[in-house]
Amino acid sequence: MSLRDLLSRYIPISLKRIVRKKRAQNEVKNLYSLERTECNVENLNSSKGIHLDKIFKSRKTEELWKSLYEQTRDFHLPGDTGGVNHGDRRAIFYTVCFFEPENVLEIGTHIGASTIHISNALFYTRVLNGKNAKLTTVDMRDVNSGVEKPWRRYGAKFSPERMIRELGHQKFVNFKADKSLNFMNETNESFDFIFLDGSHNASNVYQEIPAALQLLNPEGNILLHDYYPDNKPLWKDRKPVYGPYRAVERLKKEGANFKVVPLGELPWETKNGTTITSLALMFRGTD
Ligand SMILES: C[S@@+](CC[C@H](N)C(=O)[O-])C[C@H]1O[C@@H](n2cnc3c(N)ncnc32)[C@H](O)[C@@H]1O
Repeated sequence: MSLRDLLSRYIPISLKRIVRKKRAQNEVKNLYSLERTECNVENLNSSKGIHLDKIFKSRKTEELWKSLYEQTRDFHLPGDTGGVNHGDRRAIFYTVCFFEPENVLEIGTHIGASTIHISNALFYTRVLNGKNAKLTTVDMRDVNSGVEKPWRRYGAKFSPERMIRELGHQKFVNFKADKSLNFMNETNESFDFIFLDGSHNASNVYQEIPAALQLLNPEGNILLHDYYPDNKPLWKDRKPVYGPYRAVERLKKEGANFKVVPLGELPWETKNGTTITSLALMFRGTD
């Protein structure tokens, strides 16, 4: 048991509540201490003609997913140690297969649970068909450090880079150790699909969304993780992650012309015996 778990066990619930409340107050205070940021939604996809059912009920993608099941299972990626859960991995794979983006940016590599499913989707929908594809995955930590081997701390057997090599995707997947905002402000590239799963702190997300919008190619898509509508729990006995919703609410209050559509319930299990996901797609327009 880690020191953190040990402390958590012996700290009274009342004290934990006070700490949580103070943290929430600070998060809101920090969020509103930032200067207002404009959102340029010009290149964000609109939801017209996009039916989420179409994404998740695709027979073709289902066959592909099943054919890859053993290969990805053999990586023994853990659940519940910070990587996206098994159901969300599948949803991310289906979403990328649906939009078939050429250039993808992922913020928050961690153990690579989402990375390998994005790269698999790109490989089977584009690379195998002779089309260009590229995935850049950014994390503020060196997730592939051979010295620290951070993936081991989270129960993963292989580094994200090693899994990408085993899949033979190293030619089109790049790892960057950088803070999201540094990377997004400095890159000269533009992207067709951006997955935001880095810092879940409201202040960071408040800055990441406008930065991501600025990097989109026309009809580009942004997928959020840990979006809790109205900041209500999605799973029994599990606290919401408040930051992404708080950031989105501030941007919307300031007139940002986008909506966030939660993917809601998926046709397969996600976590805690449910089919609920915290993934959400952003679309241009508020209707
Ligand atoms: C929830 S984990 C991402 C999970 C990952 N998508 C997966 O499925 O394995 C969040 C990651 O974002 C990284 N992170 C946090 N804040 C960041 C920032 N400001 N810039 C870049 N990465 C950040 C953390 O180091 C962590 O590895």
